[in-house]
Amino acid sequence: MIDDIIQIAKEAGNLIRDGFEKTHKISYKSNESDLVTEIDKASEKLITDFIKKKYPSHGILAEEAGKIKSGTEFLWVVDPLDGTVNFAHGFPVFSVSIGVIKNGKTIAGVVYDVMQNIIYSAEAGSGAFADSEIIRVSDNKNLSHSILVTGFPYNIKTNPDNALERFTALTIASRGMRRLGSAAIDFCYVAKGVFDGFWEVHLNPWDICAGKLIVEEAGGLVTDFHGNQIDVFSKRILATNGGIHEAIIEIMKKVQV
Ligand code: IPD
Ligand code: CA
Ligand code: CA
Repeated sequence: MIDDIIQIAKEAGNLIRDGFEKTHKISYKSNESDLVTEIDKASEKLITDFIKKKYPSHGILAEEAGKIKSGTEFLWVVDPLDGTVNFAHGFPVFSVSIGVIKNGKTIAGVVYDVMQNIIYSAEAGSGAFADSEIIRVSDNKNLSHSILVTGFPYNIKTNPDNALERFTALTIASRGMRRLGSAAIDFCYVAKGVFDGFWEVHLNPWDICAGKLIVEEAGGLVTDFHGNQIDVFSKRILATNGGIHEAIIEIMKKVQV
């Protein structure tokens, strides 16, 4: 199955790359920061048509169409273009993210970094890869020597789960914070040890599913802000190398939200 996921993620990525830096039909979803283009929809159609044809009994949860089918043993969780705002503004950081859940447990995940042309992949129990190379989280245990990455939810103006105070506290406590604009790529940079930790509030299952497995298979830890286990429907995500996890949780506890 992993080869199929990789193949369709690449095909979708090629479609996205062909559409990059062209004029797009942009529509707003929840507000004027929350965009969707015709390329998001075309990528999603390509992926979901493939699943329906090759795995007709499987369920699909895809960002633009929502739940296409449920109640089956397998559920494909699809973000057809993660980083739409970057894509629409010509900033070359975006990905395709596809995870597969079997009876509630993620068994495979693929993130295709479209412009770097790198496939990140993991199967439960088999390690994590960037193309054919095995990847591992960093072994840094010192938060002040860490680079962290985060993102902001589209409802930041109204969401009471304050991302900005956490941003300030963790920026001061670490070596620096990055904001790439593709949560799936953020997970992968933790998995390959470039960044030591990623946190965000208000993510969706399609942002989390593949990336969480890739970080875990690379030896990292993914929990909520109290260190509790999470699933793809959780809203608060903390993904780290494990070594700085507790230090971040201590800071999260002190922040006013
Ligand atoms: C968004 C990106 C971004 C994150 C947002 C997501 P989209 O996904 O992953 O990095 O900060 O919370 O919604 O809308 O581009 O698929
Ligand atoms: Ca997304
Ligand atoms: Ca998306």
